[in-house]
Amino acid sequence: MKWILLPSLLLVAAYPSGGRPQHERMPNQPAPSGTSTPFFVRLSPGLKAVPPGGSVWLNCSHSCPLPVRSSLHTQLRQGNTLRGSGWVSYQLLDVRAWESKVRCVVTCAGETREAIARITAYKRPRNVILEPPVLVGHKYTLRCYVTHVFPVGFLVVSLRRGGQVVHFESLERFTGLDLANVTLTHVMRAGPNDLWQPLTCHARLSLDGLVVRSSSAPVMLKVLALSPASKALASASIAALVGILLAVGAVCVRRYLAVQTPL
Ligand SMILES: *[C@@H]1O[C@H](CO)[C@@H](O)[C@H](O)[C@H]1NC(C)=O
Ligand SMILES: *[C@@H]1O[C@H](CO)[C@@H](O)[C@H](O)[C@H]1NC(C)=O
Repeated sequence: MKWILLPSLLLVAAYPSGGRPQHERMPNQPAPSGTSTPFFVRLSPGLKAVPPGGSVWLNCSHSCPLPVRSSLHTQLRQGNTLRGSGWVSYQLLDVRAWESKVRCVVTCAGETREAIARITAYKRPRNVILEPPVLVGHKYTLRCYVTHVFPVGFLVVSLRRGGQVVHFESLERFTGLDLANVTLTHVMRAGPNDLWQPLTCHARLSLDGLVVRSSSAPVMLKVLALSPASKALASASIAALVGILLAVGAVCVRRYLAVQTPL
């Protein structure tokens, strides 16, 4: 009976008839005509993405013709509930974990079945902006801003020149639960062949089963004449900023939610 514990049930989890969880008591009210009642349990949607801190409704329905015991198992905070014949709709509040599993368990004529749904909290970057490259000596400094993104630990930011990746950074070491602004800075040596090639910056959020991509408008690499003063300034800021810079703010989440999810 190992199929009972498969964690990968995403949409409809109806156990084959005859399957029973081991903890089940023998029914003291026998099913009609002595056989187990075939029924399904469905939890929909099976996969739902919400903004961090948002809420979601999940509908647990079943085909049991008899009165049932039905319950929702989740670590998320529950809000309102709506009921109809053969279904219960549950509101879940303040989704912050990037992934939460929710189980609906229904017992029909002594037999227990369940369905599983996954809720993902993510926020597509509000902006991906690549600044015009700054030329210092024979090197260009590229700076890309990715703003208001979540969860930052699943983010990869890459720079492409003429479609080819020239640099990328994965932010998996950052595990914060807030919206973040990310600045990627990269210094690149450019030869004559690189001129007039479009440069773009790409942000990719790879969530389990869900990939969210955003990219910047292209900018062109061209020869810029800099005054000595601005050269000095630019090299100072390169020294300070090569790499990834992360700004995280809870304030910003609250502001975002106030705008996005008025209740
Ligand atoms: C829940 O699902 C059932 C069965 O699909 C449907 O009849 C019912 O209208 C749904 N309820 C809500 C609130 O969506
Ligand atoms: C992120 O950037 C936006 C502007 O794009 C700014 O309003 C916000 O305060 C920044 N948040 C943090 C945490 O730095």
